[in-house]
Parts: sequence; structure tokens; C-alpha cells
Amino acid sequence: MNNLTFRLLEVFQEVVDGGSVTAASHSLALSQPTVSLQLKKLSQIVGLPLLEHFGGKVHMTEAGEATYLCAQEVLTSQAKLSTHIQALQGIETGSLKLAAVTTAKYIIPPMLSAFCKAHPNIDVHFTIGNRQQIAARLKQNRDDIYIFSQPPEDESIQASAFLDNQLVVIAPPDYQGPDNCTLQDLLDEKFLLRENGSGTRKAIDEYCLKNNITFNDLMIIESNEAIRLSVASGLGLAILSKHTLAQAAPDNIRTLNVTDFPLRSSWYVVTRKSRPLSLTAHAFKTSLLEKKI
Ligand code: PGA
Repeated sequence: MNNLTFRLLEVFQEVVDGGSVTAASHSLALSQPTVSLQLKKLSQIVGLPLLEHFGGKVHMTEAGEATYLCAQEVLTSQAKLSTHIQALQGIETGSLKLAAVTTAKYIIPPMLSAFCKAHPNIDVHFTIGNRQQIAARLKQNRDDIYIFSQPPEDESIQASAFLDNQLVVIAPPDYQGPDNCTLQDLLDEKFLLRENGSGTRKAIDEYCLKNNITFNDLMIIESNEAIRLSVASGLGLAILSKHTLAQAAPDNIRTLNVTDFPLRSSWYVVTRKSRPLSLTAHAFKTSLLEKKI
């Protein structure tokens, strides 16, 4: 059956499904003689008649049924292959607009880097901002994918957790004050806190409100990095995501043992339900959720 082609199988399938050569010629936009010729050729290749006429209708012979089954399997496989290839082409040449809160910059780059190595021709735009800034972008529908630890409460978004986040209380290496205590016991210390609008700050404020805690001495610093370095230099204590400490020299910072801490939350990958994801964006989201990049 060396001369068997997809096209011959497709013509045969159309004749059977349509019930006549005329119907097949219409659906395939071919002339009736061409369809008849293709049927004849297929029958010659198979070596047996495929159709027989009786009672004014066309019926498949046993060889015709076997050929029809083969046509279904082959054409279904071909369609699947074609979808798969299109998807691969779409990912490889597509684009990804990603926006993440500042603290996520400690976790996203390695994942993004692995994804870009696997798909070197994609076009990536990566924006960083505090929670308030990234929530504003989400509202304006500016990006494909957003990363938050506290996604906005909004019916029109889909948020899926993919990683743990822990807020810890940190102190300078030579810190002599209370440890193994409550946050209340630390209120004589200076605290270095993120700005209003930061997700880290929001989590701390919510905890303090719930537990009736007010900081007596606080300094606002609008950067996790600057807070960490300031704590290491002895400026005060702070509450930061554990991820921000990953690159710190281990003897630079002490993590205190404070009741209720670490405060636990998760990292979420967030998309707008109404925004269709490009194949590339979808692949990146899936990779985060499966953590296989
Ligand atoms: P932030 O957000 O970088 O704005 O503090 C972190 C978070 O949402 O946990």
C-alpha cells in the first residue's frame, strides 16, 4: 500500500460520512469525477471493492469498513499532531507579559530563566512593583500573568497557589534583645518596615491589628534589599519574607523565634478569567504550577 495517502483516506471518509460522491465533492470542493477517480484509486491500492450499491444506497464492504476505521485513526492522529505542532510553534515564538510583586523577584528569576532557556525565542516583558502597583496593572489588564502572595479579592481573577511564603522576624547578628518571645515583647526595638502598598507590610499590619500591636519606633524603607542590609548593619529589626534572606551571608542576619512566626502564606499565579492566555503564557503558568521549570 505504498501509494496510500492521507488525501485518499480523507476523500473516502467524506464519501462515507456524506453518503454520496456528490456530498463529498461539495464538502471537499472537488469535482465529482475527481472524487470518483480517487475512490477508484483507493480501491485499487487496497485491492478489494470498498463500496457497493444496493437499495439505492451506498454501503461499505468489509474491506471498506476496515479502510474507514484506518482513515479515522490516521486522520485523527494527523489532526492531533497538527494541533501539537501549532502549539509548539506558538510557544516558541510567542510572548509573555509577566508582572510580580517585589518580593517575588527572589523566586521568579530562576524559574523564568529555565523557561527562557527551554524556549529561547520567546519575547518576555517582566515588570516588578509593590503589591499596590501590580494590583493596578492587573486591574488595567496590562499583563498575561501576575505573581502575588496576597492576590486582590476580585471575582474576575483566577489565583492558584504554587509555593509557600513565610514572613520571619530578623535581627542584626550581634542583637542582644529579647528572643523566644512574642512580637509585643519586641516593641522597644526599632522596626524597619516596608511602605504602605507593599504586600509584606499589609500582612504585618493585618497581624498587628488582630493582635493589638503598635510599633513604637519604626522606619519606612521601600526595598526588601535595603531593609535586609540595614538590619545586617545594626539599624533595627524587621519582618521580611524568608525568600529575601536566601542570598544573605548566613552570619549577617539572625532570625528570631517569635510566637506565631513565621507568618505563612503562599505565592499565587494570577490571571484574569476574561483574558485568553497565549500558548507561551499558558506554558509558563503551567510550569510554575507544576514547578517543572
Ligand atoms: P511586596 O509584596 O513586595 O509588595 O511586599 C509581597 C507580598 O505580596 O507578599
